Amino acid sequence: MPDAPLSNAYRIPLNQLDVITARLYAENGYPHDAWRRLRAEDPVHWCEPPQYRPFWAVTKAAHITEVSKNPGLFRSAGRFILFPEMEGGALSQTLEENPPLRMLVNMDPPEHRDYRKLVSAWFTPRAVQRLEARLEEITAELFDELAARGEVECDFVSEIAARQPLRMITELLGIPREQEDFVLRITNENFGIEDEEFQREGDTREDRLSFITEAFTFLNEITEDRRRNPRDDLSSVLANAKLDGQPVPQFELFSLYFLVMVAGHDTTRNGISSGLLAFLDHPDQLEKLRGDPSGLVATATDEIVRWTTPVNHFSRTATADVELDGKQIRKGDSVALFYASANRDEDVYDDPHAFRVDRNPNPHLGFGIGEHFCLGAHLARMDLRVFWRQFAQRVESLELAGPVELLAASFVGGPKHIPVRIRVRPR
Ligand code: HEM
Repeated sequence: MPDAPLSNAYRIPLNQLDVITARLYAENGYPHDAWRRLRAEDPVHWCEPPQYRPFWAVTKAAHITEVSKNPGLFRSAGRFILFPEMEGGALSQTLEENPPLRMLVNMDPPEHRDYRKLVSAWFTPRAVQRLEARLEEITAELFDELAARGEVECDFVSEIAARQPLRMITELLGIPREQEDFVLRITNENFGIEDEEFQREGDTREDRLSFITEAFTFLNEITEDRRRNPRDDLSSVLANAKLDGQPVPQFELFSLYFLVMVAGHDTTRNGISSGLLAFLDHPDQLEKLRGDPSGLVATATDEIVRWTTPVNHFSRTATADVELDGKQIRKGDSVALFYASANRDEDVYDDPHAFRVDRNPNPHLGFGIGEHFCLGAHLARMDLRVFWRQFAQRVESLELAGPVELLAASFVGGPKHIPVRIRVRPR
């Protein structure tokens, strides 16, 4: 039985299900009922929604795994995220033909591996472990500041969820604290590109993407500085990186830097803010975590990533005609991998529609799988573990103080504002 009353997803023809329009994500959240129906009736489904070029929606874990592990047949370069066509300017098409960024997520082997190697040593379990004490302190300071304010009303997303992962990634990159708000703004503009609150005005691609130019100016300054004065930070590693003994071309270098800077905290922020919504909907699970924060926080973290799936989709392009689940995919077709759907796949999980902080095993695809498996997964898990353990230990009371607003985004989605009334215990 569905865990909610049957929605419209079951009352319309299959070919009219819309699992991509960003506005619908703001209005209704992730389309779990539609995915549930697709998993049961047509797991590799051809979609032709208004304003988007058609694509295959892949909704089951086994098929997402098959595609992700075969980057030769399903490339990431080209259409790696599904965006709508812009009136007069076809945003998605120009993004593919002339991408404003060439990052790991839209590169393919062997080039992809060479670029990934430039930074991967900073994100291994051992490297991340060394950051734990600092992360505990950053998180404790955040809760100290809240404790000092007594019972307080604030926006959980911008004042709490965003702050801890943002400070961790900016410290790792050596970006000064005064620039945190700049990084946050650029990140919001990047992931909120389809949301009116964060969107830049304008009809052309250049108008809409001008935040990238602004970010590159900033990255240029910090890169120049680290070439002159290298330090023990990730910016110095990036600034002085070499590929085959040659300096990394500037466009690819800044794209990689940009990716680490924005992906390095926005996704985790969504894990925290969507995680809060999960706990508000399942107070028994928060009570359970509170009963044994240290013992349960590791499984709770993975369950939060499974349940909330901050990165909803990435897309691939078929490089040849190929069959997937009996469907004939043609060369050049887009294949969208809906991780959030795979994470409720009835063939993978017992009781997939239940949120359980002690779920184990939990082989979720929240960090992707295969060639592009999330570079920052260890860091993200540690961020979330430290946050939720301290939250369980120190938050005395929390209730909603206004309506939750969701981001209009079907790529990296989640809440954009959660007004709360909160009281935190002193350390
Ligand atoms: C809860 C938090 C996070 C989630 C849910 C998440 C999710 C993902 C997913 C699904 C992918 C796969 C992309 C694909 O298949 O094309 C990915 C890739 C990536 N993630 Fe994360 N991520 C998180 C946190 C982070 C953090 C903290 C960093 C810090 C640097 C990071 C950096 C990256 C990078 C650089 C890639 C590209 C890897 C590649 O293409 O080789 N992520 N992430």
